[in-house]
Amino acid sequence: MTLAGKILKLGVALALALTAGSSAALAKKKKCKDGETTEVASYKLVKGEHLDYQIPKPLNGKGGDPKRGLKWMTHRRQGNCIACHEVKKILALAKPNDLNSLKKYGFHGKIGPSLDGVASRYTEGELRLLVVDPKKAFPDTIMPAFHKAQGFTRVHKDCVGHVILSADRVEDVVAYLKTLK
Ligand code: HEC
Repeated sequence: MTLAGKILKLGVALALALTAGSSAALAKKKKCKDGETTEVASYKLVKGEHLDYQIPKPLNGKGGDPKRGLKWMTHRRQGNCIACHEVKKILALAKPNDLNSLKKYGFHGKIGPSLDGVASRYTEGELRLLVVDPKKAFPDTIMPAFHKAQGFTRVHKDCVGHVILSADRVEDVVAYLKTLK
């Protein structure tokens, strides 16, 4: 075999090995491995001011951090709130010349209402209820329940029994929503 032939053969073998390696890694990586937990906090529902119900107390007993809340709200496999909601404050973080910031903070969906000013429309407890289980406020909504692990059908097998956002992460999101006055 000529040297060129050998190099070509080696290249093909290497490409095949790499493809096999990465697809094996992909097959091994399970869904619901971004910290989704099977723990569901117990909480008390009380009457709301603008909605039928609210959850007045933090699920984790201490509240959350708005900076981390922004992270979950823009995380494609976690909250991904911006897939359905426009938030001007988050859009403002997307810089036209920076592809990463555009991918992270840009391109909001308009399936749900804009979340601008949402903290002026609802109490903190109502915002918490809306993240935990929005069907308790809007029974026919397509918005997912972010802190619920039972009652679903045909969930991906890796995700059965998992919530999307843990109690701490729900509190982070609520803390961020509270900044949207
Ligand atoms: C699949 C789309 C979808 C996703 C994802 C989604 N929502 Fe919603 N959300 C909606 C829709 C639709 C409504 C309006 C309620 C209705 O009538 O169905 C709504 C309503 C709301 C409201 C009430 C807004 C108002 O002004 O009345 C809040 C607050 C809210 N969502 C927060 C969130 C947060 C926080 C996240 C991410 C953790 C999120 N949503 C993810 C679709 C979504």
